[in-house]
Amino acid sequence: MQTNRRSFLMTAGASALAAAASSLDAQTEKPIRLAIVGTGARGWAHLAILKTLPQFQVVALADPTPPNLARGASLAPAAKTYSDYRKLLSERNDIDAVVVITPSFLHAEVTIAALERGLPVLCEKPMTTAVEDANRMMEACRKSGKLLYIGFQKRLVPTTAKMHELAAAGEIGAIQFVSGNLFRGDWNPNSWKYTDPKTGVATNWRYLTFTEGSALLEDGIHELDTLNWIINSPVARVTAAGGNNVFKQRETADHAAVMVEYESGVKLSFDFSLFAPNAGPQSRRMVLIGSEGVMEPEPEKGRVAIRSRGGAVRYVDVADDTPKEATANAVGSAQDPETYQQYLKFAQSLRTGVPAVSPEMGKTTIKLVLLAEKSLRTHRIMNWSDLPA
Ligand SMILES: NC(=O)c1ccc[n+]([C@@H]2O[C@H](COP(=O)([O-])OP(=O)(O)OC[C@H]3O[C@@H](n4cnc5c(N)ncnc54)[C@H](O)[C@@H]3O)[C@@H](O)[C@H]2O)c1
Repeated sequence: MQTNRRSFLMTAGASALAAAASSLDAQTEKPIRLAIVGTGARGWAHLAILKTLPQFQVVALADPTPPNLARGASLAPAAKTYSDYRKLLSERNDIDAVVVITPSFLHAEVTIAALERGLPVLCEKPMTTAVEDANRMMEACRKSGKLLYIGFQKRLVPTTAKMHELAAAGEIGAIQFVSGNLFRGDWNPNSWKYTDPKTGVATNWRYLTFTEGSALLEDGIHELDTLNWIINSPVARVTAAGGNNVFKQRETADHAAVMVEYESGVKLSFDFSLFAPNAGPQSRRMVLIGSEGVMEPEPEKGRVAIRSRGGAVRYVDVADDTPKEATANAVGSAQDPETYQQYLKFAQSLRTGVPAVSPEMGKTTIKLVLLAEKSLRTHRIMNWSDLPA
C-alpha cells in the first residue's frame, strides 16, 4: 500500500520533533564511542566526517591491511588499532556502537559478531551479498535487541529527501512510472584485493561475484533503493539484460538495463554503465512520472522540478544545512554531506532504538538487485519468490 498524505505528514512532523530533541540531546550527552571495522577508501571518508562531529568519538579501528589502518588512524589518532576485528570485539568494553565498512561479502560476518557482542551497528550498503545472510543478520538483531542501521546515505541528499516528501504528499498524483540511471567510471583500482585460498591469486574484490555480489549491489543500488522507497509497493517481477562489453576479464558486469514491475502496477526502469566516466549532468538521474505530472531532483541547482500535466513548471528550492566543515571540499570526498547527515540520523536512531533505514529495507533492496543479477545471468524473468523470503 502506498503511504497516504496524512500518515506521511504525521511522520514528517514526528521526525521534525525528534530532530529538534536530538540537537538538544547532542549538547548534553557524552560522545558516542565508535569502533570502525574496515578503513579503506570509504572508511577514510567516514573518519573524515566523524572528525567534524563532536557527538562521536572514534576509539578503535580494525583492518588487516597495515597501510589502510595507518591512514585511517591518521584521522583518529586517539583510537587503538587492531589487525583483527574479533580481537577488538573481545577486548574492548568501552564501545557504544560498531560501524562496518569492510568489502560487502564480510558485512554479515562482522555485523553478526558485533550484535552478538551486544553492540548496535551501522552497516554500510549493501546490507550483504545474499538474502540468506540478510536473514541471519536480522535474526542476530532480533536476538540481541540492538539497533541495526543500513547505510543508504543517498536518501539524505537534500533534493532526494525533498523529492520523497513531495511524491508521498501526492504532488504529481499517483506515481505510475519511474526512470533512473547511473553512468559512471570503473571501480577504484586500489580497492582491497581478495586472495583466493586455493590459487593464491589476489583480485580486486569488486571484480568477483563472491566478494562483490553484483556490480549493481556496489553502485546503482543507491538509486534503486531510493526509487523503491518512493514507489513503496511490493515488487512482483524483475528483468535485466547486461554483462561485460568493455571489462571482459572480470566476473562482475559492466552494464545492465533493469526493469522492475510492482504489485501496484508501477514500473521502474534503471540503466547502469561502468564505462561512462565522463557522462556529464545525466550521469545520475531519477525521474518520477505520476498521474498529474513529472518530478525530478536537480541537486546541482538545489531544487526539485515539478512539471504538471497542464504545462506549468514549479521549482521547490531545497536548503542544505550541512555545515561547511563537512562539505566535499573540506574533507576531500564527494559524498560527505549525506554521510554527515547519516551520522546525525544514526545518533538519533541510537536514542530512539528505531533505525532510519531498517534491515528489512536493506534486505528488500539487495533482493531486488540479486533478482536483477539472476535475470541478467539466466535471461529469464524473475518473480519475487525466486529468491528466499
Ligand atoms: N555508501 C557509499 O556511498 C559507499 C561508497 C563506497 C563504498 N561503500 C561500501 O563500503 C564498503 C567498503 O568499500 P571501500 O571503498 O572502503 O573498499 P576498499 O577496498 O577501499 O577498502 C576495504 C577495506 O576493508 C578491509 N578489510 C578486508 N578484510 C577485512 C576484515 N576481515 N576486517 C576488517 N577490514 C577488512 C581492507 O583491508 C580495506 O582496507 C563496501 O561495502 C562498499 O560497498 C559505500
